[in-house]
Amino acid sequence: MNKTFYITTPIYYVNDVPHIGHAYTTIAADVLARWKRLRGENVFYLTGTDEHGSKIVQAASDRGQTPQAYTDHVVGEFQRLWKRLNISNDDFIRTTSERHEKVVQAAFEKMRASGDIYMGTYEDWYCVPCETFWSESELAEGKCPDCARPVEKLKEDSYFFRLSKYERPLLEYYEKNPGFLAPSFRASEISNFVKSGLRDLSVSRVKVKWGVPIPSDSRHTIYVWFDALLNYISAPGYLSGNGVTGAPFETIWPADVHLVGKEIFRFHSVIWPAMLMSLGLPLPKQVFAHGWWTVEGDKMSKSKGNVVNPHRVADEYGVDPLRYFVLREVPFGGDGDFSQRALLGRYNAELANALGNLLNRTLNLVEKNNGSKVPGLALPPELLNQDRVRTVVQAVDSAMDRLAFHEALQNVIDLVNACNKYMDDQAPWKTAKTDLPAALRSLHEVLRVLKFVAVLLQPVMPSIALEMWKQLGETGDLPRAGAEILRTGAVSFQDGQTVQKGAPLFPRKDVNGGN
Ligand code: MSP
Repeated sequence: MNKTFYITTPIYYVNDVPHIGHAYTTIAADVLARWKRLRGENVFYLTGTDEHGSKIVQAASDRGQTPQAYTDHVVGEFQRLWKRLNISNDDFIRTTSERHEKVVQAAFEKMRASGDIYMGTYEDWYCVPCETFWSESELAEGKCPDCARPVEKLKEDSYFFRLSKYERPLLEYYEKNPGFLAPSFRASEISNFVKSGLRDLSVSRVKVKWGVPIPSDSRHTIYVWFDALLNYISAPGYLSGNGVTGAPFETIWPADVHLVGKEIFRFHSVIWPAMLMSLGLPLPKQVFAHGWWTVEGDKMSKSKGNVVNPHRVADEYGVDPLRYFVLREVPFGGDGDFSQRALLGRYNAELANALGNLLNRTLNLVEKNNGSKVPGLALPPELLNQDRVRTVVQAVDSAMDRLAFHEALQNVIDLVNACNKYMDDQAPWKTAKTDLPAALRSLHEVLRVLKFVAVLLQPVMPSIALEMWKQLGETGDLPRAGAEILRTGAVSFQDGQTVQKGAPLFPRKDVNGGN
């Protein structure tokens, strides 16, 4: 059986409703998943929720709810957002589900049996918002070095994972697999951290009741990160044979790429690989850390009241422009700023003016000069021959494989711009008066480009691409027909096909953000 392309997002904490940071990782993973499907691959795209631990207990009690009732509610909010954002995940894993908890328990016992987990006493600091253990010397002015919030002192019996044992194997692995940690500028930070020496990791808590109990010692629950990381194998069916798709675990694992934010890169590139080594499982092919969004130049935080709600952005601009913007605006891997100005700028310049207008004026001209029929002129293509199609597909493939979404989109925009220029040079609205066949020939060519663009944009803007597809008079299934175009490089129309002019894809917005 062919290996499935397996992509994951982090599983999100359910201490609060989702914001733009969560949407970002999930949209990026969705675009890659959709592109791979379009290229004919079998895909397993996993997302889910991280529901155990002190942080969740605190959030629930702040709202006067039980952790279970509260998590159920917030999980519903995540699922509602993913549905609205058109996220095509194949599974959704909750860490409170039985299928997950069983795997966590079995993995824990397996590692204990092999001697990688032992009993000791933890005596140091803990940051609840980050769910992270810190030694005295790691603290920054007595606070959490990651989030600068107060830490609490812990002293309790605890099971430990022999992380120190994996120091050398991890370093060797990084060295032998240079693509494992990406982008490369973040990789050296990780290997330096490992080189500076790994301490064994506390992996159980006596005081935290909201967690997965250790089967052989039910006084303890399993540390939330240890529990959470295992989602990547519990969902596709580790120890149980298969997951929801029915495909055997071995055809899905190892993951091709774990997408994570930069602040949780270390968990995924040190602890997680060490856990997998301990379990005797292959490591994911890549862990990719993306950057963070600021908002209008400021750090996004609840206390500042500037947390961006993806629903509001979708209300204002539409779901697909939001999906487009977050991937287009900054190279994936770097940090970016989420500002009204940038959003409006991209929307008007690239979507409304360059793409939306091109479609609109082309369909108008076809309607006016050829009774809405796609001109059927069998002349050699002037703008988009098969070689050019192949070159663009290869460029997008390569960009997607490097998670360079902005570059993939740049290729599409370049094509749209070239097409606008062609249209201006040909000026079919003028030529139609003197040489109708020439005008129709250029319109035919522009329609071909638009059809190809609809296919290329399908992973990023699935609804808009479908709308374009329909307006071009296409009736076939977009993903299926699109896959064929990408495979063969042939873009053509049915005899007598008629375009179906519709509402503008991107109604122009004024500077105040209104229509
Ligand atoms: N539960 C852990 C992950 C466990 S994975 C086994 C967690 N959850 S989280 O809810 O805090 O979400 C983390 C994700 O949201 C990360 O990918 C993180 O980068 C992303 N973001 C949170 N705020 C962000 C920004 N301001 N900008 C971009 N992404 C950010 O950590």
